[in-house]
Amino acid sequence: MANKKKLILDVDTGIDDAIGILLAVKSQQFDMLGMTTVCGNVSVDAATLNTCKVLELVEADDIPVIKGSATPLLRAPHYEHRVHGEDGIGGALKDVEPKKTADAGFAPDFIIDQVMQYSKQVTLVLTGPLTNLALAVKKCPELIHHVKEVIFMGGVVQGQGNVTPVAEFNTYADPEAAKLVLDAGFPTLTQVGLDVTRKVLLTDERIDAIQNETLAHYIRESTSIYRQRYFERNGLWACAMHDPLAVSLAIDKQLVSTQAFHVDVETKSEFCDGQMICDFQHQWKKERNVQVCTDVDADAFFDLLINTMNA
Ligand code: RIB
Ligand code: CA
Repeated sequence: MANKKKLILDVDTGIDDAIGILLAVKSQQFDMLGMTTVCGNVSVDAATLNTCKVLELVEADDIPVIKGSATPLLRAPHYEHRVHGEDGIGGALKDVEPKKTADAGFAPDFIIDQVMQYSKQVTLVLTGPLTNLALAVKKCPELIHHVKEVIFMGGVVQGQGNVTPVAEFNTYADPEAAKLVLDAGFPTLTQVGLDVTRKVLLTDERIDAIQNETLAHYIRESTSIYRQRYFERNGLWACAMHDPLAVSLAIDKQLVSTQAFHVDVETKSEFCDGQMICDFQHQWKKERNVQVCTDVDADAFFDLLINTMNA
């Protein structure tokens, strides 16, 4: 464990979060300090249960799971059961009652404790609303100087939103948290938006390439409604690997192209709340606070994902 990258994965397990968890665990690249759960796609209790189920699926139930915020900072929860199913992972593992339950503690406190204990060694990957990290920063502002790097799936800087015409779900669900994290002063903050995640589409062919029968079956079953939804909207049986791409960047940042820009989030608009605004032309003359992912090598990403599942 000594030479492995220390990682905390913050999730709102959901269908794609779950595949991100599988990638993180099966990659064997990380000293997995813990997984923290947050209100997002589903309730924090459902996200916690789903995370425990998925960890048991890959016999990784020794990894701590710490529950976080049950609501966004200010707003009411905005669940996405129509996308992720009643349970949050597409009905897969619905008959499983995991022995594993959440560990004691509160996610923001766990993040603070681990980051301060392992100063400049902990990578935070967040694949849900940024509520837990925002609460951690509010409680411990000096946290920003002790985190190795933050990678988060959220926002869209040049395309359409997936919840409103301008807003992506994670940023829309808790725009105040996103704004607080962007403004906090993290030295290394990488944003993985729909601009790139929409280019990594899990198709039947790519699932067929997963030889590990347990994982292939789980991924096919859990993504069935996700792919159905995508077909209804786009005429293709596929689904975007939003969260697994964010996780993959903690393994290999070369999978994407990034550029530094000033990025902010709208929180006071009738139509555009949750919109992520990227100052491409540096018109605001503000600090370039985010490494924005501008492109992705989709084939290289799927080589990593599939080879890891088959390892
Ligand atoms: O917009 C996609 C993001 O919202 C993903 O993290 C998905 O799990 C949902 O949380
Ligand atoms: Ca998610």
